[in-house]
Amino acid sequence: MDQTLKEGQIEERKKRIFSGVQPSGNLTIGNYLGAIRNWTFLQDAYDCIYCVVNEHAITVRQNPADLRRQTYETLAVYIAAGLDVSKNVLFIQSHVPAHAELAWVLNCYTMFGELSRMTQFKDKSAKHSDNINAGLFDYPVLMAADILLYQADLVPVGIDQKQHVELCRDIAVRFNQIYPDTFTIPEPYLSKTGKKIMSLQDPARKMSKSDENENATVRILDSKDTILRKFKRAVTDSGSGIVYSEDKPGISNLMSIYSAFTGKDYPEIEAEFAGSGYGDFKMAVGETCADALAPVRQRFDELMKDKGYLESVAKQGAETASRIASRTLSKVYRKVGFVTF
Ligand code: TYM
Repeated sequence: MDQTLKEGQIEERKKRIFSGVQPSGNLTIGNYLGAIRNWTFLQDAYDCIYCVVNEHAITVRQNPADLRRQTYETLAVYIAAGLDVSKNVLFIQSHVPAHAELAWVLNCYTMFGELSRMTQFKDKSAKHSDNINAGLFDYPVLMAADILLYQADLVPVGIDQKQHVELCRDIAVRFNQIYPDTFTIPEPYLSKTGKKIMSLQDPARKMSKSDENENATVRILDSKDTILRKFKRAVTDSGSGIVYSEDKPGISNLMSIYSAFTGKDYPEIEAEFAGSGYGDFKMAVGETCADALAPVRQRFDELMKDKGYLESVAKQGAETASRIASRTLSKVYRKVGFVTF
């Protein structure tokens, strides 16, 4: 990370990026278009650190064997999607204890009221009413620790995580007011397209990896046939015509997916499909999505055959991440008055 500068060189620190995905299920095109694919566009211009946030995943019950498998699968998707292991630090959260350690300190600088206002907590506690554990409530503080440990400038996420990044900023500002110059204040970084992919079965709800209705989500690793079938079954709206509008949430969602995969804007898409029916458009979106994901799936299959390689990436990533994280944690410990040797 820290490069030694040759004489005469001007030091220009690249801005740092941190982000992560929970290994809590098979990743969806929401995770891909809202987050992971954008990360691949940032890897040259920024100093990037991407984590598989397995500590977050246990805020809802996980089967241990599935969690272990999904943790490696998520890492493999990062690489298969195009993250170059020589340019990005890729690691697994539980390998760097500083995340949990900083989260404890930040807990003491986060208000109960702030956490109570988090919409994701309200949604998830309604969904898991038999298991509203303290971790689910506290989750945004762990997320703040993830980001602040690396002094990240930018946090590329989908729109559903924006509120958590904003809380992270509030915590960092508060901490810096008490103990100046501790944390970099991060900004959420949202892509123009793909930041809000909705369910194919209910366009009022976001596409979520834990949706029980398989037809609602398109998984990054779905086969072409499965992808085509899911788009074919996608709910559309009354009327006809491929037009982006608030009263056509089903078609508008499909247009946003098509736009994110092709780079075309809505007027271009409307012109391309003028006179086409919903069925034809759904097939076109399905084909485009399946073709874009085919190389990711192929690379993923290769990577999953070489567990040793994935382990070596995770190990190397954890070493680099630990070095950076421990610097911030020591600073925080000193600032709050913990005795150190
Ligand atoms: P998670 O695992 O739910 O989602 C991972 C990323 O995918 C984005 N995303 C979406 N984007 C567009 N449309 C969707 N339907 C969609 N669904 C998910 C999310 O916004 C996210 O960027 N708390 C985070 C993980 C996390 C994190 C962090 C992120 C933990 N620590 C620190 C950034 C920085 C989460 O649960 O994401």
